Amino acid sequence: MKEFRTAAVIGAGTIGLSWTALFAGHGLTVRVSDPRPDLADAVLKALEEFTPHLAARGLDVTGLADRVILAGDVAEAVRDADVVQENGPENVEFKKDLFKTLLEEAPKHALLLSSSSAIPSTAFTGDLADASRVLIGHPFNPPHLIPLVEVVPGERTSEESVRRAVGFYTFLGRTPVVERKEIPGFVGNRLQNALSREAIYLVEQGVVTPEDLDKVITNSLGIRWATVGPFLGSHLGGGPGGYRHMAEHIGKSMKKMWAGLGNPSQSPEEQEQLIEAVETAYGSSTYSELAETRDRKQLAVLNAVEEN
Ligand SMILES: NC(=O)c1ccc[n+]([C@@H]2O[C@H](COP(=O)([O-])OP(=O)(O)OC[C@H]3O[C@@H](n4cnc5c(N)ncnc54)[C@H](O)[C@@H]3O)[C@@H](O)[C@H]2O)c1
Repeated sequence: MKEFRTAAVIGAGTIGLSWTALFAGHGLTVRVSDPRPDLADAVLKALEEFTPHLAARGLDVTGLADRVILAGDVAEAVRDADVVQENGPENVEFKKDLFKTLLEEAPKHALLLSSSSAIPSTAFTGDLADASRVLIGHPFNPPHLIPLVEVVPGERTSEESVRRAVGFYTFLGRTPVVERKEIPGFVGNRLQNALSREAIYLVEQGVVTPEDLDKVITNSLGIRWATVGPFLGSHLGGGPGGYRHMAEHIGKSMKKMWAGLGNPSQSPEEQEQLIEAVETAYGSSTYSELAETRDRKQLAVLNAVEEN
């Protein structure tokens, strides 16, 4: 894509490394900046791990690693960038300082995107002279596999930047969704947290173990939600009468249930118990083993959903 030839990835942790692979997999030159002392090894390892995923999604990965360049600092990384994807610590002060540098050092046309999971960009662009090119491009982990990117403009983001961000993520084979109001956590993480709160409550109450709760999700809602979202799911759940029938019929009893939804206390002791229960369930496998299984299954789901 002519508009985006060179990308800068700032912060090469879990998210930045995955974006790096995706960007390079789409032919972009990628300059990566992160003060971590093992940056070169981390980038190499990530590219080795993620390149087969990109190939399995039909991308031509020839010469992919040659397009990834380590930068000495942020200024060097962004100097020629058409687009910057920030993936540093989830901390307002950090993002305030960083975006000030980005505005000074990046070319005047560069789109300045933040992967922030919960902080709207207006919270860290207040002191900037120009925030028109800054906005959130929030992915789900790992962004080289999970298609959604929440595109969230701040109060001073231009419509032109929103349009360009949507074009950029579409070019990367992602599914951008523009969200028109800033709200902490945006949409995806708010939904995830609503479910996590109830999941923690149910385990805290001794209703179910963490492992069985995961089984409930992967054998029901997980499969359904890979194909239809909650509203279309309810529209179908209402039978030929659709969402109207669902809302008027089962919806009434569901509404009553809202009042009884859990509010887990998660005292330090309860939190420790929960951590130990999760570790007992999954601690015998390494992070790499679990991530490899997750990625293999997610690739299969993505391919299956696309084929049907
Ligand atoms: N992990 C997730 O599931 C997830 C999902 C979506 C979005 N995010 C968001 O992405 C961002 C990064 O999250 P993560 O999970 O990859 O964190 P992480 O801790 O794995 O990585 C953060 C990286 O930032 C680097 N860093 C620190 N100071 C820096 C600086 N001055 N310049 C450049 N790099 C610097 C760190 O060395 C580290 O490698 C956060 O804003 C987070 O909210 C995370």
